[in-house]
Amino acid sequence: MLGGGIIGLVTAWRAAQRGLATAVVDPAPGGGAAQVAAGMLAAVTELHYGEETLLGLNLESARRYPAFAAELGEAAGQDLGYRQCGTLAVALDADDRAHLRELHALQIRSGLESQWLSGRECRRLEPMLAPGVRGGLRVDGDHQIDPRRLAKALVTACERAGVVFHRVWAEELTVVRGRAAGVRAADGTELAAGQTVLAAGSLSGRLAGIPEEALPPVRPVKGQVVRLAVPPRYAPFLSRTVRAVVRGSQVYLVPRENGELVVGATSEELGWDTTVTAGGVYELLRDAHELVPGITELPLTETRAGLRPGSPDNAPLLGPTALDGLVLATGHYRNGVLLTPVTGDVMAHVLTTGGLPDVARDFTPRRFAGTAPSDTGLAKAARPDTALSEQPA
Ligand code: GLY
Repeated sequence: MLGGGIIGLVTAWRAAQRGLATAVVDPAPGGGAAQVAAGMLAAVTELHYGEETLLGLNLESARRYPAFAAELGEAAGQDLGYRQCGTLAVALDADDRAHLRELHALQIRSGLESQWLSGRECRRLEPMLAPGVRGGLRVDGDHQIDPRRLAKALVTACERAGVVFHRVWAEELTVVRGRAAGVRAADGTELAAGQTVLAAGSLSGRLAGIPEEALPPVRPVKGQVVRLAVPPRYAPFLSRTVRAVVRGSQVYLVPRENGELVVGATSEELGWDTTVTAGGVYELLRDAHELVPGITELPLTETRAGLRPGSPDNAPLLGPTALDGLVLATGHYRNGVLLTPVTGDVMAHVLTTGGLPDVARDFTPRRFAGTAPSDTGLAKAARPDTALSEQPA
């Protein structure tokens, strides 16, 4: 596995469970975008026009979440912070309300569960909402998980399943007689693998040694996130995820049972920049404050930026590539946490059978033949007879 983020780890865990000798190459397994992500499982509230195919995969993964969380929690002996709390998407002005009405119509046409509420009904559910809220959508099926706990549990589950960790950067894919054969690590170690999985998140397009036709067209999309703490005297501050589009930007507040309140996220096409900016934090807090004025009372505990692995159609790239032996699990963009369960199952199927299961057929990397980025330079690998997975950032 080239990449030890949640996608690489779940692939490694599932592969090891199927009896494959599996190694993960990553200097800091469990790191990456999951350290920043809020952990919304928002198949319904993050539905967009033109993404109906992705919706099917998102819903399938949401359906698998309860059993996945129970199995992983038990395998790791850890609590994942999986919370079936639902989501409320609200509107603050007439434009937002019109936007939300359109989203509601799309949700209903797509056969999804979503209920329109008046502003008063929204405030009855969440009394901390601003008095000006004009209406909203109650989506009881969009839940949350704590991505940091998810990543930590996956590392433990991998260790317990016998996955080997190489805590180094993958430098270059090794290709022997036209077939991926593993990776050369930054410390000079050669790691051989029967199958190499590239799961390096936003860095997946930068591994050296990948032929152009197999290089994934993945780019970084920056997201800044703020963390606040809800003191016990204010609890329950919010009982579910609350979100809105304010002046065209998404803002969401994700309340954890342990009192953390995650406010996200910007969406910025700025290459590899992960600077936390005053402007980014200001906009998040300003928009969150319009939704829930009481946040100004809460301690600010953390600001952080991460990189989503964006793909040309916002959907992941799963399965075999034009290069024999090289398999992708990347490009999950805004849905990496949500898609973790189904990705693990799909990749285990790919690694044991060589083919994509029906649920993932539309997500073959081959749909982007000839569109890879020209800029390369990172890597990951595995060991002999191994599936490799790694994920950075
Ligand atoms: N899915 C939330 C985000 O990417 O900001």
